Amino acid sequence: MPNTITKFTHQTFQQSKIYFALAHKEISTKLRKFIYPNLKLNTKPLSAEIIQKMQQRIDEIIQKDLADGEKGIYPVNIIFDNIWAYFFSYYPNVWLDMPRVWEKIQQKKYQEFSPEIDTQGYPNYYLQNFHYQTDGYLSEMSANLYDLQVEILFNGTADAMRRRILAPLKMGLEKLFSGQNVEAIAPQKLRVLDIACGTGRTLKFIRATLPKAALYGIDLSPNYLKKANKLLSEELGELPQLLQGNAENLPFRENYFQGITCVFTFHELPPMVRQKVLEETFRVIQPGGVFVICDSIQAYDEPDFVQMLENFPVMFHEPYYKNYIMDNLEERLEKAGFINIATEVHFASKYWVGYKPDY
Ligand SMILES: C[S@@+](CC[C@H](N)C(=O)[O-])C[C@H]1O[C@@H](n2cnc3c(N)ncnc32)[C@H](O)[C@@H]1O
Repeated sequence: MPNTITKFTHQTFQQSKIYFALAHKEISTKLRKFIYPNLKLNTKPLSAEIIQKMQQRIDEIIQKDLADGEKGIYPVNIIFDNIWAYFFSYYPNVWLDMPRVWEKIQQKKYQEFSPEIDTQGYPNYYLQNFHYQTDGYLSEMSANLYDLQVEILFNGTADAMRRRILAPLKMGLEKLFSGQNVEAIAPQKLRVLDIACGTGRTLKFIRATLPKAALYGIDLSPNYLKKANKLLSEELGELPQLLQGNAENLPFRENYFQGITCVFTFHELPPMVRQKVLEETFRVIQPGGVFVICDSIQAYDEPDFVQMLENFPVMFHEPYYKNYIMDNLEERLEKAGFINIATEVHFASKYWVGYKPDY
């Protein structure tokens, strides 16, 4: 596809997602205020300058996403992942679920699960209705609605944020394999794990970037793993091995993986669990291996966005977020043993890259 057509298509595709998300937020807020006039969410409005700055950051991440595709870090076609068919199959359910969400906020009930859901065996910190999602991460419907809700939350940039892990992952692996073309390295030599893989979107992007690598995903939610399996089976390519398990206790031997990623999860873990997961990650990664985290920006990254960060756990049930935005993950990574830690910030997301020492 010629460059200008790609750019135009990309712009149109992204703008359509942004308008869709903004329209949804506007209409659902109006409806909530109409149906539940007493339900007050204690958020503070953002100034016009901050909204403009956010828009600028959105434009930047969208441009970077296309630029990385055009540079060949990943195939350009993954930027145009067809989400509309999926959106329209589940969008009515988002609306149908909304009254239940509003009830939950009004009654301050954030740890409710339908009687048919077996909550045995999960850590307590996990048994939450994160984002006020009905049944937390434990139902099929939650898994069906999750990606749609996240795209709306991030104004259509969630996948662009996930893809920001691909360049540092690839670069780290190239370092480990002394500049070899990592796209061609055999699966016996290149294993990549996505921790808390959820519905598999990050794995899908990693597979497109490293088509020969042996991929693994682990998550606590059986229904999210089922959804991931479905997503990853839709296209040709080796199926990643998906395991149900706790990231605090990874079921892999020492030094097994050359690359590990973890997207949008640390903010949903209590501080001690964050440390435990980092230590487990360190255990299973090979010396010289690369670890890339993507999560929310933190309070000290963009002082202008602090209000937006403070609004987030008011609008979405996020019990560990307040602690997370002040946490020092660089220090935690070092404590776990990682070295050469670097960070980047893109729009509402932050990235940590660390290596296991090979000396
Ligand atoms: C916000 S979602 C992120 C999912 C996915 N990485 C993404 O990019 O959308 C958090 C995920 O972490 C999983 N999770 C939370 N705590 C976990 C733990 N201790 N071990 C494994 N998975 C966990 C949840 O089941 C959920 O799928």
